[in-house]
Amino acid sequence: MVSAPATHDVYKEMPKQVLDRYSRYVNHRFARVIELIGFDRVFTKAQGAWLWDRDGRRYLDFLGGYSVFNVGRNHPRVKRALADLLERDGASLVQMECSPLAGLLAEKLAKLTPGDLDTVFFTNCGTETTEVGLKMARKATRRPRILYAESGFHGLTYGALSVSDDPMWREGFGPFLPGCDKIPFDNLEALKRELAKRDVAAFITEPIQGEAGVRLPSDHYLAEAARLCRDHGSLLIVDEIQTGFGRTGRWFACDHWGVEPDILLLSKGMSGGYVPVGAVVTRRRVFDKVFEDLPHAVVHTTTFGMNALAMTSALAVIDVMKDEGVVENAATAGAELMERLKGLAQRFELVKEVRGKGLMIGIEFGEPKSLKLKAGWKIVHAAPAGLFGQMLAIPLMRDHGILTQVAGHNLDVHKLAPPLIIGKEEIDTFVTAYEKVLTDLHHFPGPLWDLGKTLLKNRMGW
Ligand SMILES: Cc1ncc(COP(=O)(O)O)c(C=O)c1O
Repeated sequence: MVSAPATHDVYKEMPKQVLDRYSRYVNHRFARVIELIGFDRVFTKAQGAWLWDRDGRRYLDFLGGYSVFNVGRNHPRVKRALADLLERDGASLVQMECSPLAGLLAEKLAKLTPGDLDTVFFTNCGTETTEVGLKMARKATRRPRILYAESGFHGLTYGALSVSDDPMWREGFGPFLPGCDKIPFDNLEALKRELAKRDVAAFITEPIQGEAGVRLPSDHYLAEAARLCRDHGSLLIVDEIQTGFGRTGRWFACDHWGVEPDILLLSKGMSGGYVPVGAVVTRRRVFDKVFEDLPHAVVHTTTFGMNALAMTSALAVIDVMKDEGVVENAATAGAELMERLKGLAQRFELVKEVRGKGLMIGIEFGEPKSLKLKAGWKIVHAAPAGLFGQMLAIPLMRDHGILTQVAGHNLDVHKLAPPLIIGKEEIDTFVTAYEKVLTDLHHFPGPLWDLGKTLLKNRMGW
């Protein structure tokens, strides 16, 4: 039997060996998907918006680790901050202490986040952040029900899944948390009707729905939802796990509309992708109803929540974002990228809409008018959709070395979430490649449609 290689040697192995081991011991179904879509590379280095494989080929990252690498991969200042902590053998997880780093980070978050949010609970990832938000809302209001938006996504643990809509995630996992009721997104009447029953602890929503294919609400929706919740004694939980930390061209998406949530959920971009971290930011008066007296001082807690690596990286990320104008860059680079993609959309009939804010962009495809393309469209939509987006993601990766993702499930939406530090080179590279892929896609029959049929045969609908 061949012995397992040391961690650094594993990168010297052939991609096939790496894939086989992963397939054998981790998730063989996912390994098959990665192989089918031709993403079976071994990446050995990453910097900013770029990745390199073991052969030295460079890839442009427009996926951003699922919206995690907002300041770019391996940012030198975040790396330095973590290296300093490790070099000085810093104390972490003393537990029976008031962590200096947690206090400092909470102070900074309180100043950055919208409205008068002033109290922070630290978590380890997105879905856990949702769990804490839901628990807080129920206990603070002593009400049972949680309203959530149709096609919303908040994570995959039980509480979070109970307020997430997509049947693909839910099927087979019920029963879910009682008292969770779905209402249409961007519909104030439906919200008002449910709130009027006066048993609603909270309404939870993303400000812009990410998994649902970058769905934006009407401009007045969130501020009005906040007002309705306030008037009915319910709390508004805004999930900015994906939209936060500059993704949409403002520090938080709430800032676009002057929205002040009662509970704000953060994670993803918060630590620059180095260390899992999250935060629930709320008002002191909500917090005090949950952590209501000294016996309940730690009524909710988590062992790793304020670990020094997470706190240090998040502090460094905030400094980097401020000093390097990362949020402003997300706004300007996003506007330029969106404008150029909208320009392309006018020339290619399969593109239905380009939408988003900052560098959270969705490109939606729709049934074409011309007969030939219509035939192709029908063929690849014979099975549950979602496969169509791969017909763009695959050639972008294979022929142009650009990493992207398809949004959600059963959607014809291609999603872009690059690091927020991209500039002219990255935008030019992406738009040039996208134009080429769209041109190829508008030839039916053609290689990209053959690829679609192959994916269909392998039941690769996503
Ligand atoms: C809006 C939103 N909420 C929650 C989550 C869950 O985060 P995690 O994957 O860290 O559990 C995600 C992840 O994509 C998300 O986009």
